[in-house]
Amino acid sequence: MIFTVAIDGPAAAGKGTISRAVAARFGFRHLDTGLLYRAVGAKGGDPVAAARALTAEDLARDDLRTLEAGQAASRVAAIPEVREALVAFQRRFARSEGGAVLDGRDIGTVICPEAEVKLYVTASPEVRAHRRWLEVGGDEAQVLAEVLERDARDMGRADAPLRAADDAVVIDTTALGIDEAVEAACAVVRARFRPE
Ligand code: CDP
Repeated sequence: MIFTVAIDGPAAAGKGTISRAVAARFGFRHLDTGLLYRAVGAKGGDPVAAARALTAEDLARDDLRTLEAGQAASRVAAIPEVREALVAFQRRFARSEGGAVLDGRDIGTVICPEAEVKLYVTASPEVRAHRRWLEVGGDEAQVLAEVLERDARDMGRADAPLRAADDAVVIDTTALGIDEAVEAACAVVRARFRPE
């Protein structure tokens, strides 16, 4: 059974929480593709070489969730050769047996345009910054500035810019709690998933 759930959207919109919950609910594997770009950015040196030689160890670093790692990720993510080096792994994962959930920026548009379900998860910048601030602490205004800067870079880049696929279902989590957002996503998957 091949079944792909593509979940895209801007920073801190709730993609990770929703993706993990959908994967657990339907028994699918989950890939947080942002982690790939965070690991490339954190590795330092030549980002293209880093992307081509990414290891499981690189992905297991405990400093990939910081604001700095997010900024570094969005800078290396604008380099076409970096993206190219990560495509095959993501495509294989998306179409592997047993069902897969991938979350990122370009899953429904570039990595897996044939995905059976495409969700675009978003929320107001203020709400997203507040949620990220609860995770990382520090100065909330600074967190908002970083979120906005990263969104602008991700949406403005020439290669695989962040946008909703034409056939994506948009879930705006601005006024939704975690449970409501998860239920909204699961309802879309349930309507399309027909296991044999
Ligand atoms: O968790 P959050 O939404 O803040 O970020 P993330 O999903 O970990 O992604 C970090 C950065 O990696 C993004 O700002 C993008 O620049 C880049 N990214 C990408 O270009 N394409 C993806 N499929 C996933 C992430």
